Formats: sequence, C-alpha cells, structure tokens
Amino acid sequence: MQRVRVRLRQRIEEYEVTVGAGALKSLGRLARRSLSPHARRILIVSNQTVFNLYGRLASKSLRAEGFSVAHCLMNDGERYKTAATLDAVLRVLSDSGLERTDAVVALGGGVVGDLAGFAAAIYLRGIAFIQVPTTLLAQVDASVGGKVAVNTRAGKNLVGAFHHPRAVLIDPDTLLTLPTRELTAGWCESVKQGAAGKRRLFDETHEYLRRHAVDEKLALSPGLEQLIAAQVSFKAQIVAGDEREEALREDHLSRRILNFGHTTAHALEAITRFRRFRHGEAVGYGMLVAG
Ligand SMILES: NC(=O)c1ccc[n+]([C@@H]2O[C@H](COP(=O)([O-])OP(=O)(O)OC[C@H]3O[C@@H](n4cnc5c(N)ncnc54)[C@H](O)[C@@H]3O)[C@@H](O)[C@H]2O)c1
Ligand SMILES: [Zn+2]
Repeated sequence: MQRVRVRLRQRIEEYEVTVGAGALKSLGRLARRSLSPHARRILIVSNQTVFNLYGRLASKSLRAEGFSVAHCLMNDGERYKTAATLDAVLRVLSDSGLERTDAVVALGGGVVGDLAGFAAAIYLRGIAFIQVPTTLLAQVDASVGGKVAVNTRAGKNLVGAFHHPRAVLIDPDTLLTLPTRELTAGWCESVKQGAAGKRRLFDETHEYLRRHAVDEKLALSPGLEQLIAAQVSFKAQIVAGDEREEALREDHLSRRILNFGHTTAHALEAITRFRRFRHGEAVGYGMLVAG
C-alpha cells in the first residue's frame, strides 16, 4: 500500500491518497476514517459501466461500516459532463436526504470525478466527497488536486470549483477491466506530467512503457502501483505549491505546467463535440503540437 499526503499551504485541509491493489474493499474503513463522525448517508455517483463492475463491492464495504448508501448513475461519456447532468445529481442528493455532514463517493473515471466533485462542492454550499478513480487517467491526474467542473457550450471545464476530496482511493486492480484505448489515454497524461515537470518521472514512465507496452496485461505489471504513486506524488507537489493556479505565475513549479498540450487538446475535443477523442488522446496530440 502506498500513501501520499496532499498538503495545501493556502488552507488547513490535507488529505491522503491510498494506492493499493485490492484497496477497493477497504473503502468503508477509509470513509469512516476520513469523514465526519456524524456522516451517515453516502451517495455513490457513477455510471452504469463502472457501477456494474465495482458498485456492489463499494456499496458493501461502505454498508459494513454502518453508512446508508444510495447511488446515482449518470450517462457514460464526456458529452454528459454538463450542467443538465449536474442538476440531476443535485436532485438525487436532495431526494436522498443528504445533510452537511454526509458525503459523495465518485466511483469512475475523470468524467464522474469532475461532475460528482462539483455536485459535492455546491450542494448545501459544499459537502465532503471521496474520489475512487477507476481509469488510469483519473488515478494519475484527475482525482488529485481539487479541480471539479462541467463543460459548457463554450468549452471544456468552464464552470467549476476548487473542492478537494477528503480522501482518494486508488485500486490499480480496477484497471484490469479498462479498455486498451482508455489505458493509452491515461499514459498520455502520465507522459505529460513527466515531460512538463520532472525528468525522473518522465524516465520512470518511459522505462515502464518500454518494458510493458507490448504486454496485453499492462495493467497487471509489477511496478505499476509504485509508478501511479510517483505520478500522484508529483501532482500533489505541484498542487500544494499553487493550489488555485495563480494566473501570473510562470515558473516551472506553477500548476500551469500541467496544462502542457491542453490548448490544442481542448480545441480538438470541442470541435469534435467530445465524441472523437478520448481526453488523454487529445492531450497526446496536443503535446506534439506544443512540442
Ligand atoms: N480535475 C482534473 O484535474 C482533471 C485532470 C485531467 C482530466 N480531467 C477530466 O477527466 C475527464 C477524462 O477522464 P477519463 O479519461 O477517466 O474518462 P471517462 O471518465 O470518460 O472514462 C473513460 C471510459 O472508461 C470507462 N471506465 C471507467 N473505469 C473503468 C473500468 N475500471 N473498467 C472499465 N471501464 C471503465 C468509463 O465508463 C468511460 O467509458 C475529462 O473530462 C477531463 O477534463 C480532469
Ligand atoms: Zn488533462
């Protein structure tokens, strides 16, 4: 089990990211440890694909700790990361009677994480949430750092908030069911983090891909857990030093470096109405353009 602390200078909050094969079954215990002692209800936000695979295990683990658990499934896909979906989730939060001390669990990729996190950020002016990312992209990048958002007609992530999760639980075993194309998208963001910020991380990622890229069981390969933890640790370090992405900073540790490749990526995604490219793939092309 690897643990990474996300320290935030501008606020008193900090939270822990747990990375471990099989960790999903300890979600309940993690929730008990990281949520308010008064937390009683939990709404799992997910989509049908992910919930069919991992919803039962997640719910069971939470119930075993005494939480009353409901779920809300959004449609699958970037094009549903919208205000309309957000509105639907907010309605379920309210219908399920969640109170200020209760919590949301985001179970899925970056789309679910961004949308569920934003719902948690604004419901009752902010309730706790836990990220349980199930794609490589969300594990190395989207689930850490507190940026939550929905897309609008004008573009990607244009309405959102900074709302940090209380905890992040990463179970690399969930990657076993992830389609290869989604893994590739996750590797693009991983390469980005190394390329933009840290030579050693780039080399480690490159080396891992060189050794395993042809292996179908890429997700199972030894060293993956450590590499994910190293990626998370890098992102946590950048976020800690520039929590809100100060507009005027241009140094090599500002959060803006994480946007490497994203100008073109966002344009590609928007112009194809979020139907053609996986976000990570668009970032891959974006890095080629920016490079
Ligand atoms: N908040 C941030 O800091 C941040 C950073 C990077 C990206 N993002 C956002 O993340 C989003 C992209 O996330 P993504 O690439 O995870 O896409 P995604 O959430 O759409 O997931 C990709 C696909 O994989 C499926 N899936 C998820 N987990 C699975 C599993 N374990 N097994 C089988 N199928 C599974 C999903 O149902 C979906 O069809 C974009 O909206 C992007 O803007 C946010
Ligand atoms: Zn990205």
